[in-house]
Amino acid sequence: MYINFWYPLIFSHDLGDEPKLVRVLDHDFAVYRTVDGEVHCLANTCVHRGGNLADGRVRDGNLECPYHGWQFDGGGACKLIPSMGADATIPGRAKVDSYPVEVRFGIVFAFLGDLPEDQRPPIMEAIEYDDPDWYCNLMTWDLAANYARSIENGIDPGHNEFVHPTHGFSGEREGYFVPELSLLHTDWGVGFMTQYQSSGSTDMKVRQHKTQTQSEAGSGTHGPNAIWTYIHISETAWFHQYMYEAPIDDGNVRIFLVNMRSFGPGDEMGGRIRERNKIVAQQDIDVLEPVAPVLTPKSKNDELMVPADSCVVAYRKLMKGWHDKGWHIDRDKLQAAEGKKMYAIPSPARRKTKGWVLDAVPTSSAK
Ligand code: FES
Ligand SMILES: [Fe+2]
Repeated sequence: MYINFWYPLIFSHDLGDEPKLVRVLDHDFAVYRTVDGEVHCLANTCVHRGGNLADGRVRDGNLECPYHGWQFDGGGACKLIPSMGADATIPGRAKVDSYPVEVRFGIVFAFLGDLPEDQRPPIMEAIEYDDPDWYCNLMTWDLAANYARSIENGIDPGHNEFVHPTHGFSGEREGYFVPELSLLHTDWGVGFMTQYQSSGSTDMKVRQHKTQTQSEAGSGTHGPNAIWTYIHISETAWFHQYMYEAPIDDGNVRIFLVNMRSFGPGDEMGGRIRERNKIVAQQDIDVLEPVAPVLTPKSKNDELMVPADSCVVAYRKLMKGWHDKGWHIDRDKLQAAEGKKMYAIPSPARRKTKGWVLDAVPTSSAK
């Protein structure tokens, strides 16, 4: 798991007046909205004596710890320590990490890391979201697997034939093979577009009476935890899907899907697509949860890649690069501290001020 990327926390419509506890990167965060609509994300552990901030309440725009009532503003600074009286000078170390937040595509994202704004990788764009000619479904689901295994599944053209009978075949087609992939590299990811045979489908009118046709599809990564998938069924019927993944811990991930389509307005079509997406997601869950080992192996010799895996190989190379920048959480040190010491994902303010009660989470050292 990596610091210094944007992570999806919660759908905006699921964040009401109460603070919510969200777990990402093996850390807890308190997410809340003030009365004037601003959304904030704070490290959840109160630096006084470990109170659970997400169990507190929003008061005067601050988040109040449920234990002794210390109040933290949206920037993480403590503004009130009731036991010291209203006029007391607040100690400089009375602060928690606060993370940059953006609400995009109906999702609350937080930048979980300490990079200054001009160095941050951007949130993956879903440009069709604001286009009135496209229609949107939002979905989320949990997967008991490592997030990287899930991302790799999304950029793996070789699994569709066997895992997704919904796409028309069941691994029995004569002459099947995956054409050589021509990889596209972007600033923060890698992907491909390819041609594929799709069969006629009974549940989607857009395919009309075709029984088998040549279609275009592809997918790619953005950062360690996001993927896009384009499926162009015909000249006009396109799906552009964007998945933003929040690794909860090494073995669990929460996936947020922004599913855009260029056809079929209305709730009825939206409902049918939602049902189909659920079935397809379950097919992936069924193969991914038992995959072993849970983490992708460190040595490339521990798995045997073939040409259809070229995008997976390129993704692992990108991950190695972020590891070498010092962004990879050192899970062994984190696990050794479990129950004994709390760490925080470092926030951008740590580059400007000293005096933090919790140490920053241990990470790989930069090369
Ligand atoms: S633990 Fe939060 S105010 Fe005491
Ligand atoms: Fe799949």
